[in-house]
Amino acid sequence: MKTTMTVNGEARTLDLDPRTSLLDALREHLNLKGSKKGCDHGQCGACTVLVNGARINACLSLAVMHDGDAVTTIEGLGSGENLHPMQAAFLEHDAFQCGYCTPGQICSAVAMLAEAEAGAASHATADLTAPVVLTDDEIRERLSGNICRCSAYPQILAAVRAVAGEPA
Ligand code: FES
Ligand code: FES
Repeated sequence: MKTTMTVNGEARTLDLDPRTSLLDALREHLNLKGSKKGCDHGQCGACTVLVNGARINACLSLAVMHDGDAVTTIEGLGSGENLHPMQAAFLEHDAFQCGYCTPGQICSAVAMLAEAEAGAASHATADLTAPVVLTDDEIRERLSGNICRCSAYPQILAAVRAVAGEPA
């Protein structure tokens, strides 16, 4: 099936087997290897990308479902001298060891901050009627879908905290 997506700001048309996951379309058809395949079962978050600004597990989504969508991968957030603030914070805070989970962690963190800003509650939110306060527990809960086998969690939290700012 012909599928056209805007990927990292560029229109890309692919002729895909309808069973192709978005993750495989990105990695194997568009050669964007930043999004990682950890489990291929929606359990680890290594494949997290942004679709129309929202985070999803690209391994659980069929590429043909994204005809007309805007997809942003880690490559589209920033690179080289032009890093996204979240990428720069991960570097500064040493928020990785092997780095396999890192693209997913960063994409997830970027979308998570937008969700919190928009007032979306999480399991850790005590007062559903008040604006979201990004406590450490909130950040941990909201990023709990991104597993780090190297256990760099304290540094990941520090990096996200640096971008989010201190809770008021
Ligand atoms: Fe998609 Fe693990 S590879 S959640
Ligand atoms: Fe190795 Fe997270 S840095 S899995």
